Amino acid sequence: MNKETFVAVDKYYEELIVNADPKFDRINEAADLAGLPSIQVSACQGKFLQLLVQMQGAKRVLEIGTLAGYSTAWLASGLGKDGHLISLELDPHHASVAAQNLAQFDFQGTVEILVGDGLQLIDEMILAGQDPFDLVFIDADKEGYADYLNRVTNLSHPGTFIIADNVVRNGRIIEKNNQDSDILGIQRFHQELISNPRLDATMLQTVGARSYDGFTFIIVNSD
Ligand code: SAH
Ligand code: DHB
Ligand code: MG
Repeated sequence: MNKETFVAVDKYYEELIVNADPKFDRINEAADLAGLPSIQVSACQGKFLQLLVQMQGAKRVLEIGTLAGYSTAWLASGLGKDGHLISLELDPHHASVAAQNLAQFDFQGTVEILVGDGLQLIDEMILAGQDPFDLVFIDADKEGYADYLNRVTNLSHPGTFIIADNVVRNGRIIEKNNQDSDILGIQRFHQELISNPRLDATMLQTVGARSYDGFTFIIVNSD
């Protein structure tokens, strides 16, 4: 089995069952034109995020790491008109490309992009006494994952579902003595996870257009 097969199978199911609005491809085309890195979730993964939002009956969704708004659009597609999605993005250029992309959809007031450091913005939301989120997608700098998880539990309720992207990194996660900052960050994230008795989790490995990686899925339980 090789990468070409993974990509072809992704494409097969993307065309057969995902049924994405052509606007989703437009996001990735605009991202390429603007010179943004091609590190967004795949269409099949994005659709999965939409289904999770629907399954959760989520009204409030938090995303950390917007890029061009591709995963943002999938998450927002699972929300009703009374839903609200806040996406946090450090890079103002990424945020402006995302805002233009998301304006092509009918999300109106449901999607909000906040520009700044994710951790700082989360701390501001905690201080402002924001309502808890029903679903959180962590997909920004891997070095920040542990802190994002730690803080996001202060913006959660029992039943909040947290998804973290890129927890496998081509298998580098299990390399002994790997000192890469992304790997150390993801290891620290899982130490944070297991240190919190309210959190229960699993992991799924993924292959496909985004090579070999994985998601960690976490539910927040009551004390
Ligand atoms: N969720 C997107 C991909 C996100 S890529 C998708 O699947 O479509 C990671 C993004 O996180 C990049 O746009 C990067 O600029 C942003 N980022 C990096 N460090 C950050 C930080 N400290 N706070 C917020 N966003 C950050
Ligand atoms: C990278 C970041 C991501 O969020 C992703 O999905 C893939 C790669 C990266 O920074 O390399
Ligand atoms: Mg990612």
